[in-house]
Amino acid sequence: MGATGLVGTTILELLAARDFPVAELRPLASERSAGKRIEWGGEALSVEAVSDEAIQGLDLVLSSAGGSVSAEWTPKLVEAGATVVDNTSYWRMHDDVPLVVSEVNPGALAGHKGIIANPNCSTMQMVVALKPLYDAAGIERLVLSTYQAVSGTGKAAIDELRTQAHAVLHGDEPPEPQVYPHQIAFNVLAQAGNFADGDDHTDEERKLINETRKILGDPEIKVSATCIRVPVVTGHSEAVNVETREPLEPKRARELLEAAPGVTVVDDPAAGRYPMAVEAAGQDDVFVGRIRRDAGNERALDLWVVADNLRKGAATNAVQLAELLVERGLVGTRV
Ligand SMILES: NC(=O)c1ccc[n+]([C@@H]2O[C@H](COP(=O)([O-])OP(=O)(O)OC[C@H]3O[C@@H](n4cnc5c(N)ncnc54)[C@H](OP(=O)(O)O)[C@@H]3O)[C@@H](O)[C@H]2O)c1
Repeated sequence: MGATGLVGTTILELLAARDFPVAELRPLASERSAGKRIEWGGEALSVEAVSDEAIQGLDLVLSSAGGSVSAEWTPKLVEAGATVVDNTSYWRMHDDVPLVVSEVNPGALAGHKGIIANPNCSTMQMVVALKPLYDAAGIERLVLSTYQAVSGTGKAAIDELRTQAHAVLHGDEPPEPQVYPHQIAFNVLAQAGNFADGDDHTDEERKLINETRKILGDPEIKVSATCIRVPVVTGHSEAVNVETREPLEPKRARELLEAAPGVTVVDDPAAGRYPMAVEAAGQDDVFVGRIRRDAGNERALDLWVVADNLRKGAATNAVQLAELLVERGLVGTRV
């Protein structure tokens, strides 16, 4: 569900590339896309609009159609017998919905009641990098800033960046922004996400705070998050300061990260080697570099964490969870 969107399209590519066992694939989207043809696995599939009829007979649904669509249709899908891996933020903080990152807390899948939530993209890449450090030394406090790509907002945001950049480069006045509150081309916005009434943090910052604690299973971790939107198409970058509970040397942290599943260390700053969004784009791993001691805090390390927000930040993890559900016999089962 959401098969025609940025995340849905990437999920479809990965299902084919990873030979996911599929008897029948049914791409669902809105009325706007009904009848549209999608090439998948050598076949031309017809997109169906989500409806009470279209959701019958499905075993596993990978869903990325937005929060309000998920709120309405996920319970109906579960009622119709499907197990749903949902990419939207709607179910993530529900107590009876596991929020799962395949390398971090796969055991949480076992308790699902039909819905499994896929975390927010910025949280996802950060916890993959934090997990080995957390296991070795605990985490007292995180102070982080994100540098988030526009594809994290969906297709319309990529079009907005391209249109504005084209206008500026041709000496024209860029059109009024539609997706973001200000011009994004050649600019940096101190706002990724939206401000709820009376909240001085964006919802994206709240997601990082709350989802990190839920995934690591540690409500005591203090998190200070600032989420920034930058004019990058794909690949979120994050500067993360990690204060550990026990001492942890940068050399040991580097060894732990080099051995961690789903992590690639790129850390030779003297040679100009550190993770970059343009190199992470199209990759499944989380890239970590600039691993160093915080110059002002003996108990803290600084990291630079980069990943493709559409891959590990969304589609790759969703497909990895689907693979784990199949391997562990957890499709169609509810506790
Ligand atoms: N982009 C990311 O990096 C990222 C990462 C993690 C999570 N997410 C979450 O994943 C979701 C989708 O993101 P996206 O970037 O793929 O957005 P997108 O490119 O805008 O795609 C949205 C998808 O939802 C479908 N849709 C919209 N309204 C619908 C409706 N009423 N009924 C059925 N389908 C409907 C669209 O179908 P039509 O084409 O027919 O309109 C399209 O397939 C969002 O909740 C987002 O927060 C995104």
